[in-house]
Amino acid sequence: MKVCIIGCGSIGSTLAKAMEEMDEIQTMYIADNSKERVISLTDKCKKVVYFENFEDIVNNIELVIEAASQEAAKKYTPLALENGKDILVMSVGAFVNDDFRGKCKILAKQNKCRIYIPAGALCGIDGIGSAVQAEIEEVLLISYKPPDAFQDIKYLTKRKIDVNSFKRPQIVFNGPAKDAVKHFPKNINVAATISLAGIGFEKTRVKIVVDPNATRNTHRIIVKGKFGEIECKARNLPFPENPKTSYLAALAAISAVKKIVGNVWVGV
Ligand SMILES: NC(=O)c1ccc[n+]([C@@H]2O[C@H](COP(=O)([O-])OP(=O)(O)OC[C@H]3O[C@@H](n4cnc5c(N)ncnc54)[C@H](O)[C@@H]3O)[C@@H](O)[C@H]2O)c1
Repeated sequence: MKVCIIGCGSIGSTLAKAMEEMDEIQTMYIADNSKERVISLTDKCKKVVYFENFEDIVNNIELVIEAASQEAAKKYTPLALENGKDILVMSVGAFVNDDFRGKCKILAKQNKCRIYIPAGALCGIDGIGSAVQAEIEEVLLISYKPPDAFQDIKYLTKRKIDVNSFKRPQIVFNGPAKDAVKHFPKNINVAATISLAGIGFEKTRVKIVVDPNATRNTHRIIVKGKFGEIECKARNLPFPENPKTSYLAALAAISAVKKIVGNVWVGV
């Protein structure tokens, strides 16, 4: 399979290195705002080819992988689908917009394509997907991250919240997933993934806790419904160079690609 990857930061480059070892992958066309990042990757990954214009490569590929930003997801999801290509989206927060989400669903159906959304930095998505087949009363996500993950966030600066001065864990957001995703676009893709798997962006509740002593990004999910209750917790190590992103999110992208190119899906 020939693929293209948009973005080769923490997730994109980890995924590219893993795909270099997969026999099913022949070529990875990669674009990034920083050309140097892609070029430095070509030393380690012989399958990587740098590209600038999507139009030049779109006819050569079967799968688009977005691992860049919500803006990139908003641009490339419709573009991939209109060209009849499946897309794997990491910047899941892009789907918070009802019109955009609706448009992408229609495009996927019309063009017989798939939109893949990996579990990302979370565990428990499979359980939510099953639980929602009957009634769900409550989905609550509580995310704990260190102050480093919350630098230059407008929502916090507007409220004069200085996370660097915290001496103990403090809740900086408590509200619907819809608002969490808007105000913390790089931190809380997990809230979007849970919303899509379960009861939507309005009903899913999110608490964000900044913990000055945290060395991990912890996501706790509590789900209550007709099935009973789910409670699970992922205590993720962040990428050293990128404290917003958990290593598990990159591993989830690798796992998703292995499912896409493979024949056996466990926990589907
Ligand atoms: N689904 C999840 O659970 C989950 C978890 C962590 C991160 N994410 C999201 O995945 C995305 C990638 O995360 P990351 O940690 O690898 O980020 P990163 O900042 O390490 O890397 C992003 C890369 O994309 C490039 N880029 C940004 N916008 C671009 C565009 N429009 N076109 C081309 N290149 C572009 C940047 O130059 C950078 O190299 C982010 O949006 C992040 O919020 C999702």
